[in-house]
Amino acid sequence: MTKTSKSSWEKGFTDLHVHILPNIDDGPQSVEESVLLAGELVKYGFDTVVATPHFIEGAPSNQEIWRSYRFLVNELEQRDIPLQVLPGAEITLDSNLLKRAEDGKLVSLGGDSNWLLLELPLWQPAPDYLEDYLFELNATGYGVIIAHPERVQEFQHDLDRLYRLVYRGALCQVTLGSLTGLFGKSAHRTAWKAMQCNLVHLVTTDCHRPGKRLQAVPQALSMLNRYWRGEAIELWLKKHPQKILQGEDLEFYEPLLPSRKTWKDLFGRLNPWNKVTGKGKNFRG
Ligand SMILES: [Fe+2]
Repeated sequence: MTKTSKSSWEKGFTDLHVHILPNIDDGPQSVEESVLLAGELVKYGFDTVVATPHFIEGAPSNQEIWRSYRFLVNELEQRDIPLQVLPGAEITLDSNLLKRAEDGKLVSLGGDSNWLLLELPLWQPAPDYLEDYLFELNATGYGVIIAHPERVQEFQHDLDRLYRLVYRGALCQVTLGSLTGLFGKSAHRTAWKAMQCNLVHLVTTDCHRPGKRLQAVPQALSMLNRYWRGEAIELWLKKHPQKILQGEDLEFYEPLLPSRKTWKDLFGRLNPWNKVTGKGKNFRG
C-alpha cells in the first residue's frame, strides 16, 4: 500500500540552510529550477526555509541577495507554492567579516535575527584566532551558527575543538545527508558523535537542487526518530529554527567533551537535569 499522508512528526519543518535563489551561487541556475526545488521541499515536509546563498568575501552584495530573494518569493506566490522563504546567507569566514558586521553588510538568518550562518574552511585548518574572532563578532550583536561542522576536517580530527566553541556559545547545524553517509565516512561518524555529545542544535538539508540531498531526508529523519524517539526532530527541525528566527531562547542539553564522553553520559542524554537554557549567542570570552 502506498503511503499518502504524513504523520505529524514528518511535516511542519523549518530549514535554515537552503540554496534556493536562482542564479546567485552554485544552487539553482534558473527560476524554474528554484521553483522545482521549492516544490520538492514542500513534498519533504518543509513549510519554511531560509535562502542562504554563499556569501564569499563580500559577494554577492546585500542588495543582490534581497533582490533575488524578493523575485523568488513573488514567483512562488504567483505559482501558489506553499513555502515561506526568508532571506539569509551562508557566510564564509574571512578576515574582513568583523568589519562587514560592524558596517551592517551581512544578511542574518531571516533578515532581522541576530544569528549568522557561518561556513568554516572544509579542508584547511580552522584559524587559531577563530575563538577570539567569534567573541568579537558577538560583541557586534551577532551569534554564530556553524554550518555543517561534521564536514570540516578540523572537527573530524578534533571534535573537542567544536565542543569548546559550543561551550562558549556557538550553535551547530548538521546536514541531514551527513547522517546517511552522503558526504563520506568521516562526516558521517563526526555528525553522529557530535549529536551524541549534545553539540548539535539544528539539522538542515543544505540542498542546492532537487536530487540526492533531499532524497536523503526521509532516511535521515527515520534514523533520528529511531535514535531519539522524535525528540530530536521536534527540536532540531521545528522548535530551534523557529526560536532562532524569533530571537527566543533555545533549550538544549549541556555539551559533553567528546574525548571524555562516557557511556554514563550517553545514557544520561535524555535526563532533564542535563538541560540548559540559553540563547547561545552570548559568546564567552
Ligand atoms: Fe550551504
